[in-house]
Amino acid sequence: MTIDRFQTEADLSAALAARVLETIVTRPRTVLGLPTGRTPLGLYRELRERSGGDRIDWSQVRTFNLDEFAGLGPAHPASYRSFMQAELFDHVSLVPEHIGFLNGTAPDLVAECRQYDDAIARAGGIDLQVLGIGANGHIGFNEPADGLRAETHVAVLTRPTREANAHRFDHDWAQVPERALSMGMATILGAREIILIATGQEKAAAVQGMIEGLITTRLPASLLQVHPSVTVMVDREAWPR
Ligand code: PGA
Repeated sequence: MTIDRFQTEADLSAALAARVLETIVTRPRTVLGLPTGRTPLGLYRELRERSGGDRIDWSQVRTFNLDEFAGLGPAHPASYRSFMQAELFDHVSLVPEHIGFLNGTAPDLVAECRQYDDAIARAGGIDLQVLGIGANGHIGFNEPADGLRAETHVAVLTRPTREANAHRFDHDWAQVPERALSMGMATILGAREIILIATGQEKAAAVQGMIEGLITTRLPASLLQVHPSVTVMVDREAWPR
């Protein structure tokens, strides 16, 4: 793991956006894996600003997002698809057909997950996967447990994760769906390159466990230690060294 520590969240977001855009310019057919959440808001702001007009050509880029709530369709205001439309997709020259997204209202969620892994494989796999980390060490919706799923699957959300998402549901954690669709550990670890971003003191314990702790399914992000190309981008609060 390579650790890049930044003075501020804004510095981190600017450096990551530069890296993502450099990847796109160098390899126009890049396949990106993308996260939602509060941490990547600065990344998406930077990508919008730097891609504006026709400055960066996204037309051959493909994207696959990590996860989506079960029961929420793409147009639902609290869906992760809506978040991505508002934060990035509506502002860059990405072709709608190149956006890979789990549909939380698919009639058969298990089939939806299987088709998602197939679509990632057909696209040639993910070149660059950007990840956030939960305060409990989850990545995507791979929550701490005695065992983890390899493939994209229907996940049961823990109470802390539902609470962390309450701001999208009238600040009422009970309204947060109990289940979500999520890339699995093999889907994530299959990416050629992974960049995990973490900011704020509330992530410090999970970040320390991920970097220095034993590999354990009780801290899913620790499995990233087995991947040959992981960069962890942190601010001072998340990695106070
Ligand atoms: P956050 O979520 O960026 O909103 O903290 C990260 C995550 O839970 O993966």
